[in-house]
Amino acid sequence: MEIKKVMVIGAGQMGAGIAQVCAQAGYDCLLHDLNEDYCLRGLGVIRKNLARQVDKGKMTQDQMEVILAYIQPSTDLHNASGVDLVIEAAVENMEVKTKIFRELDKIAPDHAILASNTSSLPITEIAAATSRPEKVIGMHFMNPVPVMKLVEIIRGLATDDEVYELIEGMTKTIGKVPVEVNDYPGFVSNRILMPMINEAIYTLYEGVATKEAIDEVMKLGMNHPMGPLTLADFIGLDTCLYIMETLYDGFGDSKYRPCPLLRKYVKAGWLGRKSGRGFYEYS
Ligand code: CAA
Ligand code: NAD
Repeated sequence: MEIKKVMVIGAGQMGAGIAQVCAQAGYDCLLHDLNEDYCLRGLGVIRKNLARQVDKGKMTQDQMEVILAYIQPSTDLHNASGVDLVIEAAVENMEVKTKIFRELDKIAPDHAILASNTSSLPITEIAAATSRPEKVIGMHFMNPVPVMKLVEIIRGLATDDEVYELIEGMTKTIGKVPVEVNDYPGFVSNRILMPMINEAIYTLYEGVATKEAIDEVMKLGMNHPMGPLTLADFIGLDTCLYIMETLYDGFGDSKYRPCPLLRKYVKAGWLGRKSGRGFYEYS
């Protein structure tokens, strides 16, 4: 089987980035979300990213238009009937994801591979919502997708070797580096990253230092490109909380308990950069 047409579900920060890199590699791409406004917002972000490359002389206006023409918006999941691969990048919530996968299983062609960009949720459980668990796999991109090289490829318990190899090959085709990981909560990336971010939030919560000081220590002291609180805002505080909850539920270990301050911010709707306010304010 050859992957030609891709549907990306969720036109948020991850979905838009995934659609962009797929289109840049010449894949026909449907960018699907709950309504047209969300799709257009995602397409707008892609256009802005590409326009920046044009301004820097890294691509021509014509090349940009060709890439954009590969991406079509979609608000009807039935459009999955014509695709070879679906990459789901909706919210980090098991109920939402299993509902999408259950529906996709009925709509997508038998040969189609169903991948999830989940940050932490068990691929095996998502796969169990379908009648094709051997064709379900994790494709965990990093944010910002157009820049970050890594894709963690997560094998569910039933994932076929052939499916793994196809996805590994496609990951290379879109210019990324695949790393194989088994299916445990948070995989490798977020099992290590998110407790660090959560600890940074505890450090703020306990008044050890200001948010600026915490970020400065990790940037200048550890050479991290962003401090952990800036990174949390960048990822989305709702996503950070979902990931910590998955680690806490999955391992049953109190070392993964989400910081109450993180919960409070999410309850207040302070979701970070995407909502205009998190640990910092954004205009
Ligand atoms: N979208 C697309 N491109 C972007 C971008 C964005 N949001 N932000 C920056 N870029 C591009 C710029 O256009 C620039 O491109 P060129 O090299 O082609 O000119 C390049 O990235 C560098 O940008 P800048 O010089 O403006 O900024 P920078 O050097 O400070 O880098 C950064 C920005 C790459 C985001 C850097 O701050 C960084 O690496 N931050 C950490 C990111 C990180 O840790 N990501 C992982 C998050 S965890 C995750 O994704 C997993 C999960 O499940 C939660
Ligand atoms: P986001 O909030 O920016 O975007 C999510 C999008 O999904 C929204 O546009 C929303 O309207 C859409 N959506 C919600 N329910 C839907 C449904 N039923 N059908 C179609 N669309 C639906 O979130 P994001 O940061 O792009 O994260 C998306 C996924 O990617 C999550 O699973 C997250 O854990 C994962 N992820 C996030 C990051 C990150 O740094 N933010 C990194 C890697 C993976």
